[in-house]
Amino acid sequence: MTKILVTRRLPSSVIAKLKAAAEIDLYTGEAAIPPDELRARIADKDALVCLLTDTVDRSVIDAAPALKAIANVAVGYNNIDVAYAKSRGIVVTNTPDVLTESVADFTWALILAITRRLSEGERLVRRGEWKGWALDLLLGTELRGKQLGLVGVGRIGRAVAARAGAFGMRVAYTARSETALSGAEAMPLDRLLLTSDIVSLHVPLTPDTRSLIDKRALARMKRSAYLINTARGPVVDEEALAWALHHHLLAGAALDVYENEPAVHPDLLTLENVLLVPHLGSGTTETRTAMADLAVENVLAVLAGRPALTPV
Ligand code: GLV
Repeated sequence: MTKILVTRRLPSSVIAKLKAAAEIDLYTGEAAIPPDELRARIADKDALVCLLTDTVDRSVIDAAPALKAIANVAVGYNNIDVAYAKSRGIVVTNTPDVLTESVADFTWALILAITRRLSEGERLVRRGEWKGWALDLLLGTELRGKQLGLVGVGRIGRAVAARAGAFGMRVAYTARSETALSGAEAMPLDRLLLTSDIVSLHVPLTPDTRSLIDKRALARMKRSAYLINTARGPVVDEEALAWALHHHLLAGAALDVYENEPAVHPDLLTLENVLLVPHLGSGTTETRTAMADLAVENVLAVLAGRPALTPV
């Protein structure tokens, strides 16, 4: 019988679909499956359903001679050695589209939260230090009339841009190719950093984008600007960001992703002008269920000899 390894608990409706078609080996630990256990349990499997917290490198792929499909329950797939998997004839899939709107909503949640100082205010209330309404208490920054600079305008970047009009922001963007985004201005990264009031990252993690936002890039930003990262942690040099925030080279940052998740650079934890949330971008019940479902549909398609729905 066909055997599938699933590295984390998935919604029961989704698991039921898999069970109807194959023998399921479900890892039920709370955190990511340890690498040795992944290599051991994948050995006799035909397919893998994994998460962005699982590193699927050559050693994992080599441990699974019968593997035909790797389905990542994520749109990003930097955790998988895709080129090597393909060279072995293994189909790799991700979960685009189904999470676009929820990540775009979440990006705006971070933009609003950091510019209106929500987490600072919440900490103040919880500490019992709120003395009552004051004209100048925790004043934030307006968005209207300001520039939103999008680094990357794939599906999610575009969905973020589509919401900008509601907040009266104009949009600037950088794009690798000649992607045109109507009503927005394309510009090189340096100019985008110099002129934007909010810089929001929407690029995948690749060798080109690793540490794209380094000390030099941060030093170019306006002192009144905010950095938002809902993409991948290593796109930003966290140490450099902590340094720049400490020296008020920018006004603040809101981060959903980190260089070494779940670790957060200790200097960031001590700063007030940074909002830190635990990789929640696509985290709605509806979207996470849709992502798991799409991953499973991809596996079932490949195992049935049909084309994958969303191959990478
Ligand atoms: C989440 O970070 C994803 O890539 O889906």
